[in-house]
Amino acid sequence: MLLLSVSPARATAKDARQKVAMPPMMQEHMLNNMRDHLRALQEIQAALAKKNFDNAADIAEQRIGMSSLDTHGAAHMAPYMPKPMRDIGTQMHRAASRFSRTAQEAAVKADMAPVLDDFSTLQRQCVACHDSYRLR
Ligand code: HEC
Repeated sequence: MLLLSVSPARATAKDARQKVAMPPMMQEHMLNNMRDHLRALQEIQAALAKKNFDNAADIAEQRIGMSSLDTHGAAHMAPYMPKPMRDIGTQMHRAASRFSRTAQEAAVKADMAPVLDDFSTLQRQCVACHDSYRLR
């Protein structure tokens, strides 16, 4: 199986990501958040498969959305990030909250397309930041 089938060029291209310096404790905290983001995406997808829209909406809002900013200590990490990186982070939190609202509406309308569209917009923010920045 070709793991990088979407963009095989990236596997061999020189790493052009910008390195972002932050104290080791902050790095650890951020990567811990990241692993929870990935876990949340998986849980959201599982909830969507069961048409459990309210559950998907809650996970997105509480774990990645605007409601998660405090628990993630976003205010402490933001100063270490270059402005464009911070902006992608803000876009991610907004996209998660938008997804959350769309998922709640889907519980009534039973229309999956807008939900998947907003889920993809959310994931695009993960990809955008990972394409541009690294910690190590
Ligand atoms: C604002 C930038 C930014 C956003 C947005 C972002 N990440 Fe990350 N993420 C990073 C950086 C930087 C790293 C470290 C990469 C490196 O040093 O190679 C990382 C690492 C990770 C890791 C590896 C964790 C580890 O322990 O090594 C996972 C998993 C991850 N991100 C998931 C996600 C998911 C899922 C999303 C979207 C819901 C997301 N990230 C959004 C910047 C971001």
